[in-house]
Amino acid sequence: MTIAFLNGEFLPLAEAKISPMDRGFLFGDGIYEVIPTYLGKPVGFAGHTARMAQGLSAIGIANPYDSETWRDILNQLVDKNRDSISSGNIGIYFHVSRGTDTKRFHAYPQNIAPTVFGFAFEIAPPQPTSREDVKPFKVALQEDKRWQRCHIKSTSLLGNVMHFQAGVDAGVNETILYNSEGLITEASSCNVFIVKDGVIMTPPLNHQLLPGITRAIAIEAFSRANLDIKEVWFNKEDLINADEVWLSSSSKELAPVVEVDNHTIGTGKVGDVWERAIKAYHAFKFEA
Ligand code: PDD
Repeated sequence: MTIAFLNGEFLPLAEAKISPMDRGFLFGDGIYEVIPTYLGKPVGFAGHTARMAQGLSAIGIANPYDSETWRDILNQLVDKNRDSISSGNIGIYFHVSRGTDTKRFHAYPQNIAPTVFGFAFEIAPPQPTSREDVKPFKVALQEDKRWQRCHIKSTSLLGNVMHFQAGVDAGVNETILYNSEGLITEASSCNVFIVKDGVIMTPPLNHQLLPGITRAIAIEAFSRANLDIKEVWFNKEDLINADEVWLSSSSKELAPVVEVDNHTIGTGKVGDVWERAIKAYHAFKFEA
């Protein structure tokens, strides 16, 4: 049994209870984060807490804690779950909802305290650095049907859940999304990179995609390693005709993709730029 955090207290996860009148439950009215830690060391802590602060501010919820307190809660969750998640690959989930109201009414209620929840779960080990050892992904491709504020890491994830499920139903690992103009935005739970002629590309940030922390760390790591990285829009054809396709997220780091919508990517094997990229990522990730 893992130990969770709820409104200031640490307790066994099964004992963590909230009211059904919580606006997170009724409206998906909240913000969340997933922070990876390896042997106790978090990756991108500053970026994750800054993005959470921006998300909370964007939806008018006061941030319940400063970043030092968030770090203390993260450290305590890692410590208290060290025995039950013995691999040391621990994801920390933080969730702040607007709180519990007495009635169901859409407008933001005044004077209610946010509900703050955190728990620990096992994530995959760090990605291997050799093409032979990494397990490549296959993905589906769908038009992005989500809302116009995908830069906010909202707990309202039904659109993402439906897109992800479409991939599961197609027997693949994820679903990459394109907008009404055919431009790739992101995937249902990851950001997207492609490689063409040695140039690494990822869509620039706007309201159509989450500003992924792994994406940001990877861009910085690639620049430091003198890999050619550009933030540019590309379309479905560019994706399918790319030499390499990768996904990025806190729980997957950089995951190579060898098949998109039943089209083979490049040679159908994990590419050599991915190998250089994952090495650059590992060399920098704990500094970010
Ligand atoms: N998913 N885009 C979407 C829609 C996401 O949900 C995520 C993260 C990302 C990558 O962001 P980051 O690198 O900061 O993890 C991009 C998390 C892990 C999740 O929902 O479980």
